[in-house]
Amino acid sequence: MGTKIVGLGVYLPEKVLTNFDLEKMVDTSDEWITTRTGIKERRIAENETVVDLAVKAAEEAISNAGIEKTEVDAVVLATLSPQLGFPATACLVQERLGLPHSAMSFDISAACSGFLYGLDIADAYLKSKKKKTVLVIGAEKLSSIIDWKDRSTCVLFGDGAGAAVVRYEENDESDILSSKLYTKGEAWNILYREPCGYLKMEGRKVFKEAVSGMTKSSLEAIEEAGLRPEDIDLVIPHQANFRIIKALAEKLGIPLEKVYVNVNRYGNTSAASIPIAMYEAYRKGKLKRGMNVLLTAMGGGLTWGSMVVRF
Ligand code: ACO
Repeated sequence: MGTKIVGLGVYLPEKVLTNFDLEKMVDTSDEWITTRTGIKERRIAENETVVDLAVKAAEEAISNAGIEKTEVDAVVLATLSPQLGFPATACLVQERLGLPHSAMSFDISAACSGFLYGLDIADAYLKSKKKKTVLVIGAEKLSSIIDWKDRSTCVLFGDGAGAAVVRYEENDESDILSSKLYTKGEAWNILYREPCGYLKMEGRKVFKEAVSGMTKSSLEAIEEAGLRPEDIDLVIPHQANFRIIKALAEKLGIPLEKVYVNVNRYGNTSAASIPIAMYEAYRKGKLKRGMNVLLTAMGGGLTWGSMVVRF
């Protein structure tokens, strides 16, 4: 008996913003962005809201799960670029999806770790049998909170959404083998958004915290799952920077071929990055049922953590 990930969905806006486009906007170069981050392009939602992105990803996840919308009895939406100050973006998504009032809906603010926090919350609700079907969404319109004149941040981020339908199945083993999540509030000021303002970041400090936090929590999650690093078939890390991903793989002793990377195409989509990567890896046949998959992330808060899943 346990928690099953039964459907994934994704939505990426059509407009592609390349490094060459950015060269015309700020004092930067494709060469600088590529060597420091691995990012070549990102998607930008021009005429769509974060709710639009979330709804499209959620609709696909529900369809792929083969369930009726009426079966969803909670929506957990992770975002750092909400539609409004309040109510939660999840409430607007619930309305647009036409979910029943019994589907309690709320946002969580855990930045780039948001999808993992959401999955963990869903797992806890399902295990306690308070809920049967939870929709976990990571959705971001980061283009709306980026200072497009600040070259140190605007080259890093992109828009997108990913969603998962998670259910409790009485006769199946849980897909979630372990979960180690952390918060270090005293470091909040190296990555934050000013009230109604822009995202601010001390890149070098975040870089170091990301590598150490993701590595340590990954090793803990692998151990808690009763596995060794060599038992991991696929790593799906938060897609912030290829150099962070490479350093993580080296420290874990896991070859890069076992690490899914799409940061080159989408940049950092914060809470959406892990579900987008899971979806793509599954579609491409790189993520197969029965594999031991390590999910790991770090974000503002600081928040970070890792989970091992098998589905
Ligand atoms: N184009 C050209 N030059 C730039 C740009 C740019 N877009 N941005 C900064 N520079 C310049 C700086 O001004 C600096 O110039 P100076 O030496 O004359 O002062 C120089 O490049 C080096 O700047 P650093 O910030 O020291 O560069 P660094 O090698 O640390 O790379 C980066 C910066 C890419 C932001 C890196 O620190 C990083 O990736 N950090 C992690 C941040 C991150 O991923 N945040 C996302 C949220 S958290 C998360 O998702 C994990």
